[in-house]
Amino acid sequence: MRDTRDDFPLLKRRIDGHRLVYLDSAATSLKPQAVIDAVTRFYTHHTANVHRAVHTLAEEATELYEDARRSLARFIHAHENEIVFTRGSTESINLVRHGMPGLRRTLTTTLEHHSNLLPWGYEEQSTVVSVDRNGQFDMQALEAALKQGVDLVAFSHVSNALGTVQPVKELTAKAHAAGALVLLDAAQSVPHMPVNVKDLGVDFMVFSAHKMLGPGGVGALYGKIDLLERMGPWQLGGHIVDGVHLEDYDLQEPPHRFEAGTPAIEAVIGWGAAVEYLSDLGMSQVRTHDLELVAYALQQLAKMPSITLLGPTDPERRCGSVSFHVKGLEAHGVARMLSNRSNILVRSGFHCAQPLHESLGLLPSVRASFYIYNTREDIDALCEALKAIVTFL
Ligand SMILES: Cc1ncc(COP(=O)(O)O)c(C=O)c1O
Repeated sequence: MRDTRDDFPLLKRRIDGHRLVYLDSAATSLKPQAVIDAVTRFYTHHTANVHRAVHTLAEEATELYEDARRSLARFIHAHENEIVFTRGSTESINLVRHGMPGLRRTLTTTLEHHSNLLPWGYEEQSTVVSVDRNGQFDMQALEAALKQGVDLVAFSHVSNALGTVQPVKELTAKAHAAGALVLLDAAQSVPHMPVNVKDLGVDFMVFSAHKMLGPGGVGALYGKIDLLERMGPWQLGGHIVDGVHLEDYDLQEPPHRFEAGTPAIEAVIGWGAAVEYLSDLGMSQVRTHDLELVAYALQQLAKMPSITLLGPTDPERRCGSVSFHVKGLEAHGVARMLSNRSNILVRSGFHCAQPLHESLGLLPSVRASFYIYNTREDIDALCEALKAIVTFL
């Protein structure tokens, strides 16, 4: 993959004369100039609402907005009518939870981000399957639950806490054979690898723009069109209707029936630019770059006796991040020292996966997460800074 660092203006920022080492892309990614320009161009030349007025600016804005939907659909091999814009992965999951009829018996796992656990895991007929230290599901428990009858299985493609990649096709085939639908939380996979919804076979998939170079405040729900047609909106308002009378109203077809009110127009357009940028790089190359960094980080960190790595040791079974404990040190303390002393920005804590940590008896951890603008030098800087912290104590 080509060197992309010059495309990211924030990487030029210096703090106390030092460069930034941004290792927190699993939380949110940096934005390339192409995305910043697309948002600025919209404000400068096209500002208008979408799907409403017939004037020139409104038609241009609508065209740009729907172009972004088409780009995104191509990116994941869906049809444009199967892409619903939401505020992010969290809202997409909640839209399915509230909009899809007949989801009483749900199954999720202890590995999930809170966004994919809270909507499902606390209902009377829900099952939460545990995972081992590598993030592998307890298959016996999963199969036993499927035998009892499950309406929907919700799980993440890539764990934001352990980095584990799940065998989605295999799990989806099992769920389908038992008559269950599948919702895939792809917040951490779509940014990092080629994802083809038709090939994976999932029924719903959720992901967020801000983790894949796009602006904040927008995400998408992919849903098979026949399922979206069975779903009702969970928010009512402008644009979702064909006609409104005092007695009743007629809903639009999907995806428009789910996009009540003025959407995040500029964010969607910026996301379209992000998708074009990633497509130009090539998602296979993005995945190869990610694998190289993860493998290198695992190898380098494993050399340090005071570091305990979490998750699978095989880089092929991981994506995007490496989480670890530093012997004798609390995770937030490590993250603060890395930031204050070396401008190395990592995440610390439970990574919105507290039940996972609790069920495995794990303390809060430090997470270094990577993206297209990271290099081996960033990982070397992290290791050097960690060595200094450990020695300093
Ligand atoms: C695996 C996973 N699922 C869901 C989410 C929630 O995404 P958002 O906050 O964009 O809704 C995240 C965010 O970190 C995540 O990592």
